[in-house]
Amino acid sequence: MQVCRTVDEIRSAVATLRANGSVGLVTTMGALHAGHMALVAAAQADHAAVVVTIFVNPTQFGDPADLAAYPRRDDADLALLAAAGVDAVFLPDAAAIYPPGDQTIVDAVTLAQAYHGAVRPGHFRGVATVVTKLFNIAGADAAYFGEKDYQQLAVIRQLVRDLFVPISIHGVPTVRDGDGLALSSRNLRLTPGDRAAAPILHRALRAAADTVRHGGTVEDAAQTIAEIVATEPRATLRGIDIVNAADFSPATGAPTAPIGIMLSAQFGDVLLIDQKEILP
Ligand code: PAF
Repeated sequence: MQVCRTVDEIRSAVATLRANGSVGLVTTMGALHAGHMALVAAAQADHAAVVVTIFVNPTQFGDPADLAAYPRRDDADLALLAAAGVDAVFLPDAAAIYPPGDQTIVDAVTLAQAYHGAVRPGHFRGVATVVTKLFNIAGADAAYFGEKDYQQLAVIRQLVRDLFVPISIHGVPTVRDGDGLALSSRNLRLTPGDRAAAPILHRALRAAADTVRHGGTVEDAAQTIAEIVATEPRATLRGIDIVNAADFSPATGAPTAPIGIMLSAQFGDVLLIDQKEILP
């Protein structure tokens, strides 16, 4: 496995890999877990070679304390990726991605400010900008993203469409712990008490799905979630957003087409998100 730290190194590694066939890309911020490895496995199933990026992107964090607290485990991550048979890893420093004088941003204007974007102003602009850079640097054929970050996936699909980026985007189902908690690098920062409480999010999403399947409206589903999360004193609900899966417009009334429910809640100083897509 080739470990590249500069743009030139990863470009040359990808050029060599490309001689054997197509290249899949998995972008990460490290602290890898089984959810990331599911993205790697999906990419490996489709492509001759897989490239993984590890970069804790400063521009997608509003709060400097959140950025500083983000877990970093490069050695363990590299060992995991090597064992999984990844072909190349791009592990740049911030100056490689945002060189002095850098000033261009990518912003899916309306979508980035809606829903979770309203809870974390600027977050999706940072994601869209870094992902565009990583796509341009890696030059892969396809990229794989977790469905847990439901709005992030929508923002990335939008930017690829709008900017004619020649890459295909694949969503991969959320990987969960046995108690239903969606895997996230942020889970490492939960206190034991908050970790035990956090599966309430998945329980609330499942109950909301039942509400809709039994003829309830989107508003009923939101109320189900609010009531269930309110039973957990360690959880502070930050957002419940229910959208039409096809175009991310706000869903209302009794759904007749797939909807996506996005949920965010704070446990101590850790903001967790989860998501469920429901076919009525
Ligand atoms: O999902 C993530 O880990 C990050 O938002 C991403 C896509 C790697 C961009 O920094």
